[in-house]
Amino acid sequence: MDSAPEGVDPNVPNVARMYDYYLDGKDNFAADRAAAEQILKKFPDTKVGARANRAFLRRAVGYLVDQGVRQIIDLGAGLPTQGNTHEIAPDARVVYVDYDSVVCVHGRALLARKDNVDFLQADVREPDALLDKLGGLVDFEQPVAFLALAILHFIPDEVAYDVVAKLRKASAPGSHLVISHAVDPTPDVTPQALEIYKKATASLNLRTREEILRFFEGYELAEPGLTFPNGWRPDDPSAPGNGINFGYVGVGRKPAH
Ligand SMILES: C[S@@+](CC[C@H](N)C(=O)[O-])C[C@H]1O[C@@H](n2cnc3c(N)ncnc32)[C@H](O)[C@@H]1O
Repeated sequence: MDSAPEGVDPNVPNVARMYDYYLDGKDNFAADRAAAEQILKKFPDTKVGARANRAFLRRAVGYLVDQGVRQIIDLGAGLPTQGNTHEIAPDARVVYVDYDSVVCVHGRALLARKDNVDFLQADVREPDALLDKLGGLVDFEQPVAFLALAILHFIPDEVAYDVVAKLRKASAPGSHLVISHAVDPTPDVTPQALEIYKKATASLNLRTREEILRFFEGYELAEPGLTFPNGWRPDDPSAPGNGINFGYVGVGRKPAH
């Protein structure tokens, strides 16, 4: 990317643009690439992990469509890449949410061109304001699906569980919650990765499997439960990323009672 939009400091590594770099995207600045390279040096499988996460998104959204979900809210949507949510669920109402200005400029230009797709700039750490804004875009009397892929590990405990609980409360029975989340401990690399992200726009809050599972309180987990990304309803046994575990993924459904 050549120049930064007004108000964006290209010298601070940005978590959305570092992730774009892992996915071989072009929407990143020198500082993002330098920080991402530091991560890749210590943890070369990060690129494969990012792809495994996107492949999980594709399978999970396909599953939601099969379940009849027609409203999807993609939290921390990130920069547009291959296989965006509205492309996998073309008949659904899709609202992308991100707090990052660069992400929103690109998202609005590339994704929100269709009648049933919107891109909302909002901070997920402020769930009341978020739900207020979403109220004008989706019908909360009907089931919705919240996607929280690779975002909750950027939100500290004191906020993250409260956010997820508020989203659940606002959701009608039959709604879904989809999570992918980096795990702690990640052998050998955790302290170094934390240091690199401390200097970026959002620091990492890695959680254990049990802590990630807690986000699904009040939901019934769809089979096969909370798994490694490639272990969730795999459709390609030779997909890269088998045997690599950066985190856990799962899909929950809010029951009637
Ligand atoms: C690693 S990317 C994940 C992108 C996409 N969800 C995926 O899994 O492929 C994390 C995204 O979350 C966004 N994000 C982080 N904290 C956020 C917050 N508090 N509110 C909204 N977006 C946030 C970042 O801007 C970034 O685009």
